[in-house]
Amino acid sequence: MNVTIFSTKAYDRRFLGDANDAVGAPHRLRYLEARLTLETAPLAAGADAVCAFVNDVLDRSVLEMLAQGGTRMVALRSAGFNHVDLAAAEALDIAIGRVPAYSPDAVAEHTVALILSLNRKIHRAYARVREGNFSLDGLLGFDLKGRTAGIIGLGKIGIAVARILVGFGCRVLAFDPAPDQDMAKIGAEAVGLDHLLAEADIVSLHCPLTPATHHLIDDAALRQMKRGVMLINTGRGALVDTVALITGLKSGAIGYLGLDVYEEEGDLFFENLSDKILHDDVFARLLTFPNVLVTGHQAFFTTEAMTAIAATTIENLSSFKADGAPRYSVTIARTD
Ligand code: NAI
Repeated sequence: MNVTIFSTKAYDRRFLGDANDAVGAPHRLRYLEARLTLETAPLAAGADAVCAFVNDVLDRSVLEMLAQGGTRMVALRSAGFNHVDLAAAEALDIAIGRVPAYSPDAVAEHTVALILSLNRKIHRAYARVREGNFSLDGLLGFDLKGRTAGIIGLGKIGIAVARILVGFGCRVLAFDPAPDQDMAKIGAEAVGLDHLLAEADIVSLHCPLTPATHHLIDDAALRQMKRGVMLINTGRGALVDTVALITGLKSGAIGYLGLDVYEEEGDLFFENLSDKILHDDVFARLLTFPNVLVTGHQAFFTTEAMTAIAATTIENLSSFKADGAPRYSVTIARTD
């Protein structure tokens, strides 16, 4: 199939090219650096399939433009599909494929890296020591052992985080309306959301972004949490109300904040903007707090995960070519 691939970097081209070659190069891959938007969608004219990443736009108007150009499938290089208008895709007869699980451990380990770095202030210590400042003032941490961690969303990634934190000796509480596994087997206690928010020293978000979870952590949720709580979001930016977080940081309600995702990340992340003026004042304010650590949506970024994402993407394309449906499809009614 002819496949136009949006939002590619050199690393995407390498992993996708290798995965396609590994199965005899059945697809002609055309790599674009541009993000998929209404303006760039015409670049896919004539492509049987389009391959997209997390910040590509797949709303109704973009999908209509792709359909007009002859595209019949979109292969997402992500697990999340909150950025796709599934009703429009179905109406336009565009199949959507995704990568349901590539390396939950990659995301879980990054989540724990944020927890450890924030607690022991590694981000601050690194800069200090390089400047010849060996003072420990302001670097006081706490033992994770014995602390209570609350995991919201006990799916593949949440389970992996829970296992690591149980290993650290944390008490792990989890809230999930439909958990993947028996929580007790993992060593987590199933609790209601209110209970979790009230008891946890660390709250980590691992549920998908849906209308029900949009701004799950808002002013009201912050008021339920322990003062000085550590909040970690490696899920999706809009799970939290960022303006409410800034108020919480200013008042001390939030003691530590670790983010790998941001609601408006589409205009920022994955690009080198170091010589540009930052126009997003909310994001700029976040970066001023010493107890905030932001990474640019890199939790998935390991060799193992990139290899698996590329292989599953090629598998989705091949099964669409052979059977008319991606191996892992997303529809309104059902997600494989
Ligand atoms: P999953 O589908 O295995 O697990 C999600 C869990 O959330 C399910 O058990 C589900 O029942 C639960 N859930 C749904 N609604 C909920 C609610 N209202 N409250 C609490 N739990 C709820 O998904 P997986 O693979 O664990 O990924 C989770 C999310 O992590 C993805 O949806 C994606 O947005 C994000 N992600 C972020 C990455 C990054 O690089 N930062 C990489 C991969 C995924």
